[in-house]
Amino acid sequence: METINTINARRSIRKFQDKIIPNEVIEKILELSTKAPSGKNRQPWRFVILQDTAKDDLVTLMTNVSKNHKEKGLPIGSLEISINSLNEAPLVILVFNAFSNSEKDYNHHRLLTDTQSIGASIQTMILTAQDLGLGSVWICDIFYSHQEICSWLNREDELIAAVAMGYANQSPYPRPRKSWREVTDWLK
Ligand SMILES: Cc1cc2nc3c(=O)[nH]c(=O)nc-3n(C[C@H](O)[C@H](O)[C@H](O)COP(=O)(O)O)c2cc1C
Repeated sequence: METINTINARRSIRKFQDKIIPNEVIEKILELSTKAPSGKNRQPWRFVILQDTAKDDLVTLMTNVSKNHKEKGLPIGSLEISINSLNEAPLVILVFNAFSNSEKDYNHHRLLTDTQSIGASIQTMILTAQDLGLGSVWICDIFYSHQEICSWLNREDELIAAVAMGYANQSPYPRPRKSWREVTDWLK
């Protein structure tokens, strides 16, 4: 029942309290994230924790990219909302694929498999955070700045997502969902 309650209670949280997350809580979230299943047990996920100045540097870098896009008249979608969430959050976890940029013969099926495995670890991460009283939002708008972020961190592996996390300062209503009937073909 606890798992079901956690799944039902989770929302994407974009406003956070100015409250420090104890290191033990962060470590527990990371430990449980690595318990996710993964194709061939390859565990392709890699995490980078950003707090304080390092997190502020990410926000500055992404703000510059956003300004640059706007000046050029390029679309930025929800980038500004995402930057605001990253700015608000006391903790950001960047998630990378350890293999996609380096492994020989890395084909489309491997990419699909490893990406699913990483998605499973992110979902485990955000549900664990929810269970431990934290809110979070999964962010793919980091793709606007993936090159800049990888150069800044001097990382060769591929950036997959960011998760902004902290104690929630909002309680959003649930976002609408298609019913399971609408998205399921049940064959007998
Ligand atoms: C793969 C993925 C990428 C997402 N990227 C962003 C993002 O860049 N910015 C953002 O604010 N929310 C992002 N979200 C959160 C979604 O907007 C959110 O999950 C969806 O609207 C449903 O709302 P809920 O999480 O509160 O149920 C992302 C979620 C997923 C799973």
